[in-house]
Amino acid sequence: MEVYSEKQQITAVIDALKAKNLTLGLVPTMGALHEGHLQLVKKALTDNDKVVVSIFVNPTQFDNNEDLDKYPRTLEKDVELLKTVSKNNILVYAPTVDDMYEGKTVSKNFDFDGLEFEMEGRFRNGHFDGVGTIVKRFFEIVKPHRAYFGEKDFQQLAIIKKLVKKHHIPVTIVGCKIHREANGLAMSSRNTRLKPAYKKAAPFIYKTLKTAKQHFGTKSANKVVEWVVKQFANHDLLELEYIIIADTETLKPVKRKSNKKSYRAFIAVYADDIRLIDNIALN
Ligand code: PAJ
Repeated sequence: MEVYSEKQQITAVIDALKAKNLTLGLVPTMGALHEGHLQLVKKALTDNDKVVVSIFVNPTQFDNNEDLDKYPRTLEKDVELLKTVSKNNILVYAPTVDDMYEGKTVSKNFDFDGLEFEMEGRFRNGHFDGVGTIVKRFFEIVKPHRAYFGEKDFQQLAIIKKLVKKHHIPVTIVGCKIHREANGLAMSSRNTRLKPAYKKAAPFIYKTLKTAKQHFGTKSANKVVEWVVKQFANHDLLELEYIIIADTETLKPVKRKSNKKSYRAFIAVYADDIRLIDNIALN
């Protein structure tokens, strides 16, 4: 399996594939790959002839230097894992920060119709400028026919769809379901950093979301939010950052439920110093 770190190299390979009329999928990642990432790669392989998996810990989307420093970097292991999925049809693109940014800074001119000001945008300053900048750059370099993103980061997926629409980028965005551990915990590269007690406690997040979903059938959104807040107030190890029930189109918090709309609950929780996010469809 080839691992490319330079733009010129990967561009030449991609141009050659395109000249043969092969279809190309892109799975952007920050590495420390797990089954959740592999699920995106597998879907991309069924839809396309070749798949580029990018592995790049993007500094501009972190609002916390410690989180950036401690983010797991496991390139060799990642490549071994990808080989178990396909030996011939995956290209790994693991560029350097200089190669990706070429001295340019993050673009702050994005307009995602307000999606960027909700939830993760509110709690992680500048996060979606960093994500938008880097994903747009990957689209320009790889020029994929399709690109794959997980519903684990539902807001990110919605923002990438907006990015593509607003900037007329010719790529189809494919959303993929959240992949979970057997105990319900949403898979995440950050899970490897959880200390044992927190790892044991973390499935409480999804368990609470599932019960919240049941309550949403009979209670108002406000009441469900209050109930979730109470569950975490009583918890010794997990600290709730936010719980929001939002309209899946606008991502704005729901005031009054409508049968015509679809809603999702979004949550961010601190397990010690590790920030975990999850979400669930409510109707
Ligand atoms: P990263 O967190 O590595 O995730 C890469 C992709 O895998 C994202 O689309 C994410 O939603 C998806 N993913 C992660 N865990 C998942 C799970 N348990 N189930 C389903 N999909 C999952 O998201 C990023 O990197 C970055 O922001 C990136 C898009 C690469 C831009 O830097």
